[in-house]
Amino acid sequence: MSYEHLKLSTDEHGIAWVGIDVAGASVNTLGTPVLAELAALLDAFDAAPPKGVVFHSLKDSGFIAGANIQEFESIARDGDVAAATRLIHAGYDLYERLSGVRYPTLALIRGFCMGGGLELAMACRYRVAVDDPGTRMGLPEVMLGILPAWGGVKRLPQLIGAPAAFDLMLTGKTVDAKKAKRLGLADEAVPARIMGNTARAILQANPPPHRLPWSQNLLTNGVLRGYVAAQARRQVAKRVRAEHYPAPFAIIDLWQKYHGDVHRPTVGESCSMPTLLGHSTARNLIRVFGLRERLKAQAKGIDFRAKHVHVIGAGVMGGDIAAWCALRGIRVTLQDLDAARVAPAIKRAADLYKKRLRDERRIRDAMDRLQPDVAGAGARKADVIIEAIVENLAVKQRVFTELESNARPDALLATNTSSIPLEQIASGLKDPGRLVGIHFFNPVAQMMLVEVISGAQTHAEVARNATAFVDQIDKLPLACKSAPGFWVNRILAPYLTETMRCLDEGIAPETLDEAALAFGMPMGPVELADVVGLDVCAAVGQVVGGKEALANAPKRLAAKLEAKELGKKTGRGFYTWVDGKPQKSAAGAVPPGLSERLIAPMLAEANKALAEGVVENDALGDAGAIFGCGFAPFTGGPFNYQRAQGNSAA
Ligand code: NAI
Repeated sequence: MSYEHLKLSTDEHGIAWVGIDVAGASVNTLGTPVLAELAALLDAFDAAPPKGVVFHSLKDSGFIAGANIQEFESIARDGDVAAATRLIHAGYDLYERLSGVRYPTLALIRGFCMGGGLELAMACRYRVAVDDPGTRMGLPEVMLGILPAWGGVKRLPQLIGAPAAFDLMLTGKTVDAKKAKRLGLADEAVPARIMGNTARAILQANPPPHRLPWSQNLLTNGVLRGYVAAQARRQVAKRVRAEHYPAPFAIIDLWQKYHGDVHRPTVGESCSMPTLLGHSTARNLIRVFGLRERLKAQAKGIDFRAKHVHVIGAGVMGGDIAAWCALRGIRVTLQDLDAARVAPAIKRAADLYKKRLRDERRIRDAMDRLQPDVAGAGARKADVIIEAIVENLAVKQRVFTELESNARPDALLATNTSSIPLEQIASGLKDPGRLVGIHFFNPVAQMMLVEVISGAQTHAEVARNATAFVDQIDKLPLACKSAPGFWVNRILAPYLTETMRCLDEGIAPETLDEAALAFGMPMGPVELADVVGLDVCAAVGQVVGGKEALANAPKRLAAKLEAKELGKKTGRGFYTWVDGKPQKSAAGAVPPGLSERLIAPMLAEANKALAEGVVENDALGDAGAIFGCGFAPFTGGPFNYQRAQGNSAA
């Protein structure tokens, strides 16, 4: 039998090595044709059982990225329940069969092992994870509004215990090789050079498969199951509402009622996968997944790679931008007026690396890549120079005039300005087309979106290279035209201004926040304003709203600024902040129409800015709103939302 997506070889010990190499794709994903080949392979093994089987990937990009989303996307779009059921059962039944074979099976995992890929690995008797920085394992289905339907809900709790399994399945979080081993998800975490031998040795020894320790068994299979499920439900309910995000609740139900067996819920039951797929949330979240890919696709085919980044300004933004670039493997020099101003940024970087890298050697390497450079010597050698100094036109102009003569002629010159038109900053340059905006959001480490701003003169190639750079550091680039507030701040400003007007009318902050949460925003606007800083909000409001905004400045906001109560950073804004948390009273009932009142100005501004060409099209605008402002993801973004509401302007 010949296979299109699998490459089979048998070694001298009689072990079959199944190399997964999905044809015509750079990444392995599992769709109907691959599942059919795996089924044929199991038939062949039934006829002539091997001594053992190793599933591994022949792609550099990783093991398996998951099920083929496009297949689910078309099912979700067409609402084809029969097709959904067929695909779900095909994967589930195949993995059931794999888990029951007599010969020992092992998944050798290097790189991404997600969703349907991890479910395949869990159906094997053993798992060996390669301890590479790129190895990540997880079940991210919940982020698409669906559930791990190919046995994930059944098997993950049996491997790592229900509480840890929920922690992964209900958030979409991933783990690295070492954590996978600690949890019991991987039997071994080993360096790449011994991965093959380890896999072979395990299959030859054929030890009893991993079992849960008794305490975990009690929580997962014993009398405490109901308690664990209730606890998980409570945790989820704190974060999301079932009417917006039914999937996490469905995962808990499928586990508690049916032990993860997707055959058992009846169609229409809330924990049935076809029901989830028929929900608008899955349709929209799957679309959002596509939008994320679309943002990344803007960088495809551009071969610009930065090896050295120079950042000028080690404040809130510059310091964190420098730390992030070094975390992503780039050499970084960081300049400010004196060493004392760089020191806090280096300290914050150390904290970030400790949290993200955990491994001593990798932390040290990242710290080594980040070098203080008060003299600014790095500017002469860097491939990318990012300016993040005070928001002052004259100072920025001076910095770039100097840079133009000192920097390499092919270096990317970028500003992180949030409000000064690029054309003004570039006005002193011999070639103003060299300047591009690379606009990060605060906090840099958490915000995925980065706007790439083209001024009227920015060379197209410079903007393209900036886009590739943003992708290189694993952020999502959004191309924007240089216009006040760019995209994200432009649409956020009217929403926050409307919020401030409501406050002036005497509506309680808690009620306003509740109104936005009810719409599906991840955080209420009053809390958001406090987090961003009321001074920053006022500045953005003026940039976007101009003189008119200044004349009609909301009164309570003005009073807060006057009293220097600027929000979270000063411990007091519209809320009092204790241990990083706003102290809120119970929200009153949300008056009818309040959510819509808050959101409407944002939608109107999005329509206006799109018409002005600030972003290229509505899909990118939706993506920017979701990844930059947290616009309720289950709605699919402001334009998708308006379309669903029947607003033809969108
Ligand atoms: P910041 O005040 O925290 O940091 C500015 C740093 O630049 C200071 O450490 C200062 O010593 C240094 N500096 C000033 N002149 C310099 C010069 N000539 N050479 C070297 N260093 C110099 O300011 P922040 O908040 O980091 O803002 C920086 C830029 O980023 C601004 O253009 C701002 O509009 C933009 N931005 C700020 C965001 C925020 O939330 N704070 C978000 C996005 C962009």
